[in-house]
Amino acid sequence: MTESAHGVARHTALPFYDWLDREDNTPLRACLGRGDGGHQPRGPALAGYGPAGVPLGDTTGGGGGGGHFARDLAEVYPAFSVIVQDLPRVIRQTVEDQKNSPGSGSITYQAHNFFAEQPVKNADVYFMRHIFHNHPDAECVKILEALLPALKQGARVLVSEYIVPPPAELTGGLGSKPMRQMDLLTMALFNAKERTKDEYSRLFQQASPALVFQDIHQVPDDPRSCIFEAVYQGANDI
Ligand SMILES: C[S@@+](CC[C@H](N)C(=O)[O-])C[C@H]1O[C@@H](n2cnc3c(N)ncnc32)[C@H](O)[C@@H]1O
Repeated sequence: MTESAHGVARHTALPFYDWLDREDNTPLRACLGRGDGGHQPRGPALAGYGPAGVPLGDTTGGGGGGGHFARDLAEVYPAFSVIVQDLPRVIRQTVEDQKNSPGSGSITYQAHNFFAEQPVKNADVYFMRHIFHNHPDAECVKILEALLPALKQGARVLVSEYIVPPPAELTGGLGSKPMRQMDLLTMALFNAKERTKDEYSRLFQQASPALVFQDIHQVPDDPRSCIFEAVYQGANDI
């Protein structure tokens, strides 16, 4: 994560998110927060998937950002109990912001570094949105491994990202431009990339053979939010 164009250009040995934490990056953090908030379907679009499509239940999200997606989800599905996790600085800011515009659903916020063992045990679903494309393969596997001790049998691990088609199917023109741009951006900032279905399947497998790749769901009107689903078939004694 330190071998990136970001590191060379900014003369820093810090990975992007550690660098972003520096005091002098306050304006950039605010800008990124607004950007992340813009990359999401709003409530009505979310109603197009959910229990019928993706089996979301008690949901924990790693790298939840400002919790915009989770807030919409909790609003559309009030029966869900949602916990948003992100780095301490992000959670502090999010909790502060929520005081002015509290959502209506059941949602709580928790500081958690997703490389550390997952503290929320036994959730039905662990949902990571736009996290993996910011990490090289080895780190993605570590993030999944940190979840394993918390997983009950049948727990679902959902990873939401673009799905990159195989090269032969990747069309030219403007249609695939946002995906290509994001692929280059993640390479420049994180030494990471957007991935194909097979690449996601392999990440699950590498983390644990018990994490079985199950399905892909496409969020309506949001190409960035294809959801890769794996089901934990191990037998943790939680
Ligand atoms: C691209 S944003 C996605 C935010 C949100 N999931 C969404 O879909 O809008 C990536 C998020 O990962 C968080 N993050 C980065 N490193 C993290 C870590 N080690 N543990 C927890 N969160 C982390 C960042 O603070 C940021 O909010």
